[in-house]
Amino acid sequence: MKHIYQKGADSTRPTLLLLHGTGGNEHDLIPLAEMIDRNASYLSVRGNVLEYGMPRFFKRLAEGVFDIEDLIARTKELNEFLDDAAKEYEFDRNNIVAIGYSNGANIAGSLLFHYENALKAAILHHPMVPRRGIALPNLSGKNVFITAGTNDPICPSEESEELKALLEKANATVEIHWENHGHQLTRSEVEAAASWYQKLV
Ligand code: MLT
Repeated sequence: MKHIYQKGADSTRPTLLLLHGTGGNEHDLIPLAEMIDRNASYLSVRGNVLEYGMPRFFKRLAEGVFDIEDLIARTKELNEFLDDAAKEYEFDRNNIVAIGYSNGANIAGSLLFHYENALKAAILHHPMVPRRGIALPNLSGKNVFITAGTNDPICPSEESEELKALLEKANATVEIHWENHGHQLTRSEVEAAASWYQKLV
C-alpha cells in the first residue's frame, strides 16, 4: 500500500497508524501525529480504493452503506500490510495505535472488529459501526477513544453509542468525546485525543 513511514525519536513509543478520510491521502493526518505524540514513529497509509478519483480504504454502495465483502478483504489487506511494514521498518507489531478520520476510522474499527491483535489502541474520529451481526474478537486490554459530533449527518449519535457498546461488549475500554459540530475534524477533538493518549502511554 502507498504510505509514508517516519521513524520517531523514541522507539519505545507506539507506532501511530494514520488513516485518512474519503478523498484524502497519506499526507493529511501527519499534523495529528505531531499533536498526539511528536516522538513516536508514524506509518501513514493511502487507501487502495478509488471512488471517482477519491482514495478510500474500502468500497461503499452508497453513503453509509458499505460493501461488506470489500471491507473484509481490504481489512485483511491492511492487517497484512501492517505485518510486513513492522518487519521492514523494524517496529513493534504489537504496539500500533491507529488514528483514523471518517473512512479511515471505519477501517480502523474494522481491524478491531476482525482481528484480536491488529491494534493496541485506536483514536477514531467520527467512526461508524463497520459491521453488524458478527462476533468480535476478545479486545481486552485494548483502548479506544471515539470522537463524535452531536450534529454529524454521516454518523448519528446513536451509532457512536452503538459502536462504543459493541467494543465494550468485546472487553475493550472505550471513551467517547462529543463535539457540538458535524462530521468535520476539529482541533479541540484532536487535543482531547492527545490528552487521552498521554494518559495511556
Ligand atoms: C464511509 O464511507 O466510510 C463513511 O461514509 C465516511 C465517509 O464519508 O467516508
